[in-house]
Amino acid sequence: MEKKIKLNPFVKWAGGKQGIASNLIRYFPVKYGKYYEPFVGGGSVLFTLQPECAMISDANTWLIDTYQAIKEDWNAVAEALMEMPNTKEFFLDLRAQCPRALPRAQKAANFIYLNKTCFRGLFRVNQRGQFNVPYGNYDRRYFDPANLQAVAEFLNNVDLRHGDFKISLQDVQEGDFVYLDPPYYKLGGHSEFNRYTDQQFRANDHVRLAEVCREMTSRGVHWIMSNSNTEFIRELYSSYYIENIRNRREINLKSGNRDIDELLISNRPLVERRGKKFDESDVQAVLLE
Ligand SMILES: C[S@@+](CC[C@H](N)C(=O)[O-])C[C@H]1O[C@@H](n2cnc3c(N)ncnc32)[C@H](O)[C@@H]1O
Repeated sequence: MEKKIKLNPFVKWAGGKQGIASNLIRYFPVKYGKYYEPFVGGGSVLFTLQPECAMISDANTWLIDTYQAIKEDWNAVAEALMEMPNTKEFFLDLRAQCPRALPRAQKAANFIYLNKTCFRGLFRVNQRGQFNVPYGNYDRRYFDPANLQAVAEFLNNVDLRHGDFKISLQDVQEGDFVYLDPPYYKLGGHSEFNRYTDQQFRANDHVRLAEVCREMTSRGVHWIMSNSNTEFIRELYSSYYIENIRNRREINLKSGNRDIDELLISNRPLVERRGKKFDESDVQAVLLE
């Protein structure tokens, strides 16, 4: 199915692939059964690829609940967002609320609002799971109703799950295709904070993920993974195909040092299999040969 409408992530996500998604998917197979993305985050790769049949999941419950709310009733989410003024007072008040007891559409609206109006669009929670990013003071629109509607229509054919990647990938079958974009193995020893959930993704989780990749390979499942260009990751996946790529990080790196090397890893040769869906103006970085 060729892409008809451009879909955009409705949240800004640390480690988001928006800048390179269009180039990345050229390495994806053209024909496959079901598309799986168990670290979906803001969904930039999903929304660029627009597969006909997909399963997406993430360990961040509030994020997946937001996808679910948009799928069920995007209009209710949009209406709740329209009621929310972009002021520091309102932001702080909302941030202090416990989202658990709220109706799903309101909870989703709160999530989008906090993500888009907070400082640099980070999602970070403390150990009690409370959102703790300061106010951003940006004078800009923080949601687009037309995009929410288009995303909702697209999500009609998408199964949503919440939880750990291993459980989400349990029913993947021969012929399916999986794109994996886990929290990267720590680069350069910078201190990690809880970027996505109240749990950290540690070396042991990367080892668990490599084991799941091994199992998927033995079942005839084609997978491609993005990860950091580190000794540990190169070693962990040394029996697979590995290419260096360039990414552009919007978050967490000082300007001037934003182009960083990372890896594309797969159990099949990394060759260009399809044309680009967007033109160059949509792409902020290119894959290196
Ligand atoms: C690098 S981000 C994915 C970014 C996404 N590709 C995008 O373009 O926005 C990694 C994601 O993994 C999720 N995550 C962390 N630990 C996980 C786990 N054990 N199982 C599944 N997802 C997990 C995080 O919540 C985060 O959304």
